[in-house]
Amino acid sequence: MPLPPNEPTTPQAVRDWVEKQTRDSDRFRHVFEASVEHRNQHGCDVYPSPDAPLLGVLAASTRAQRILEVGCGLGYSALWLACGAGDDALVETVEHDSDHAQMARQHIAAEKMTGRVRVLEGWGRTILPSLQGPYDLVFFDGDPAESLADLEQFERVLRPGGLLVSANLFLGQYIPDLPGLDQTAKYRELIMRSERWLTAYFNNGYALSVRR
Ligand SMILES: C[S@@+](CC[C@H](N)C(=O)[O-])C[C@H]1O[C@@H](n2cnc3c(N)ncnc32)[C@H](O)[C@@H]1O
Ligand SMILES: [Zn+2]
Repeated sequence: MPLPPNEPTTPQAVRDWVEKQTRDSDRFRHVFEASVEHRNQHGCDVYPSPDAPLLGVLAASTRAQRILEVGCGLGYSALWLACGAGDDALVETVEHDSDHAQMARQHIAAEKMTGRVRVLEGWGRTILPSLQGPYDLVFFDGDPAESLADLEQFERVLRPGGLLVSANLFLGQYIPDLPGLDQTAKYRELIMRSERWLTAYFNNGYALSVRR
């Protein structure tokens, strides 16, 4: 039987297909691109999540109503979380850089989502202890050097059965001398071995953990 036209037949062709389809159907692609442009100018660490549509799917499938994110950047992943979670949900997203927070608020306002995404300005270690749970879903996309303190708070505010999505746990492959790699090693160990979490790792660098 002949192959369908443009059928991807190699691992690279499959990767290209997925990347193109994801890009072409991304309603927040302009925010992704603005994040990349900003990073190139500012020299900071605003790497927009390449798998943000997955965050939308996870928010929708878990019917998350209260969502917490550490590492807002310019708002790209927060918009996807809010989009998946629906009109009645609230995303609270933590960002310590005031310029990033301001640009995120502008992107959120442009999408008419101001009532659905709240940017909390400050470091996670300062803001998280003041938050009251329960949250249904937490997305960690923050600084590795802060990750263990943040994880302690995630354990406190995430409801039993809630979902923790962790990024930034394998940054040693890009920057072997990055400060905080020791913390992410402990973070990986904790979510894998602790009886408080059930965790699966993915090759894209994410870990999904359910709070027991
Ligand atoms: C990788 S970027 C986030 C990208 C964003 N989640 C997205 O997908 O578009 C990390 C951002 O989080 C901020 N950040 C990192 N660690 C943080 C922390 N512990 N508390 C608050 N902000 C943090 C940085 O300033 C930066 O803007
Ligand atoms: Zn920046």
